[in-house]
Amino acid sequence: MKKSTGLKKVKTAVFISGRGRNLKNLIKFSNKKNSPIKINLVISNKKNAKGLKFAKKSRIEKKIINFTNMKIAEKKILYLLNKKKINFICLAGFMKILSKNFIKKFKGKIINIHPSLLPKYKGLNTHKKAIENNDKFAGCSVHFVTAKLDSGKIIMQKKVKIKKNDTVISLAKKVLEKEYLIYPAAIKKIYN
Ligand code: GRF
Repeated sequence: MKKSTGLKKVKTAVFISGRGRNLKNLIKFSNKKNSPIKINLVISNKKNAKGLKFAKKSRIEKKIINFTNMKIAEKKILYLLNKKKINFICLAGFMKILSKNFIKKFKGKIINIHPSLLPKYKGLNTHKKAIENNDKFAGCSVHFVTAKLDSGKIIMQKKVKIKKNDTVISLAKKVLEKEYLIYPAAIKKIYN
């Protein structure tokens, strides 16, 4: 991938559906001088996604896209991405599965953060599964997005130890702290 010069940051869109803690963290990261990305657009499929407030606070353009008709939704998104010359997409708690066609158009330029040590526990309820299976470790992964859910090449992972008294909530909290570290680190790894 093209190396960033420090002067020209890669125009980036972040897709969210909910709380947006990773979005908040990515905005903080992108505001740093040595960040290879600049967030120019936030897309949400939910109009009441809490994370939208972080875009508003940082005066980043945000768009709510209704996914009832996925074809139309993706067409609208593609129009926006082209208009704003976006060439990198970070999914951060985005709960919609993008079509093969859409992903093909941004091949190698869409990444996602997933709260498990992939390839273990693709999909939802990852922490519950890790606890129920008595796993010693949980964690998170940043990976390239391909047409197959949570299956693209892994860019970076971080482990956390599961303690006997961990609950889904306590584990999610511990993993989220690692998410904050690896999402920016993975982006740096791609562009440096
Ligand atoms: C995170 O745990 C992330 O790994 C997963 O969805 C959650 C999103 O949280 N993909 P937030 O919206 O960034 O707070």
